[in-house]
Amino acid sequence: MLTTFNTRKNMQDYSIKKRVLVTGGAGFLGSHLCERLLNDGHDVLCIDNFFTGTKDNILHLLDNHNFEVIRHDITFPLYVEVDEIYNLACPASPIHYQFDPVQTTKTSVHGAINMLGLAKRIHAKIMQASTSEVYGDPEVHPQLESYWGKVNPIGSRACYDEGKRCAETLFFDYKRQHNLKIKVARIFNTYGPRMHPNDGRVVSNFIVQALKGNSITVYGNGSQTRSFCYVDDLIDGFIRLMGSADELTGPVNLGNPGEFTILELAEKVIAMTNSSSKIEFKPLPSDDPKQRQPNISLAKKDLNWDVKIKLEEGLEKTIAYFQKMISSNQ
Ligand SMILES: NC(=O)c1ccc[n+]([C@@H]2O[C@H](COP(=O)([O-])OP(=O)(O)OC[C@H]3O[C@@H](n4cnc5c(N)ncnc54)[C@H](O)[C@@H]3O)[C@@H](O)[C@H]2O)c1
Repeated sequence: MLTTFNTRKNMQDYSIKKRVLVTGGAGFLGSHLCERLLNDGHDVLCIDNFFTGTKDNILHLLDNHNFEVIRHDITFPLYVEVDEIYNLACPASPIHYQFDPVQTTKTSVHGAINMLGLAKRIHAKIMQASTSEVYGDPEVHPQLESYWGKVNPIGSRACYDEGKRCAETLFFDYKRQHNLKIKVARIFNTYGPRMHPNDGRVVSNFIVQALKGNSITVYGNGSQTRSFCYVDDLIDGFIRLMGSADELTGPVNLGNPGEFTILELAEKVIAMTNSSSKIEFKPLPSDDPKQRQPNISLAKKDLNWDVKIKLEEGLEKTIAYFQKMISSNQ
């Protein structure tokens, strides 16, 4: 029997292939998400203004007829037809988000309003890429989703932290006011291939410095701790969250709870790259959190999600990526 799908609702109910919009799709996480969605058989629309993302990140996807790219800034409205929206567009590293802090807040706040408005109009499900930065410099360890955070609202990181907090507020108000299907992921430090080589994020920084034989810059005495999640684990969490029951809105922490000091990470990278680099200590930047570690019990319970990739394994893949990039630029 031939079934005809003559309404969009029918398409959503019966079609396995979904039309998925990824904002910030040419960035580090966005490009991995686009790749995963295409591999899962979906139709992917990547939106990016290429502020920190690059065409190189999605070059390998351009031949896929299920993949489309539009250069667009999400601070302006967008009119497209999709079933799901992953809202990732936003510079993520301090160097980039502090470059034009007003634009950073606009991207989080106006961008969220535009994408939520789009989701409302077309009845799409929407996921927000929020961040552990909403916890600020936390007094509680590890951080549970119920913790409200300690953020300096007027500091140099506020354009990002408060922008992301306001975006979360908007997501929950769109749910309460318009009954939108929302999902909020609070992402902790994630690393892997296609990170920007010069964005000051600690894993890429250390690897590039070590591969070039430059000094490894550690801020403070290196005793501050971070957790490092490999990108494939995180993307798996995104897919599970989007596919979860409608009542499960989050916020849900996604990250690797394994805690390492910055000094331990520096030493590991030096050893794994066989580098002759020496560690150089510099003063801590303002509002730098001393400790950051996710409690992922909610994601384990409700999404049946857990991290699988150990730091050494993830570092190996990331080092290989940067090694190739550095040697092709020489
Ligand atoms: N990587 C992490 O560890 C991490 C941690 C917490 C949260 N996040 C969040 O995940 C998302 C993706 O982060 P990432 O690490 O891939 O960063 P990224 O900088 O590599 O990617 C962000 C992408 O958004 C694009 N973009 C920025 N402003 C835009 C705008 N106004 N309109 C359209 N596109 C725009 C950039 O060009 C880039 O391609 C961000 O929202 C970030 O806040 C990432």
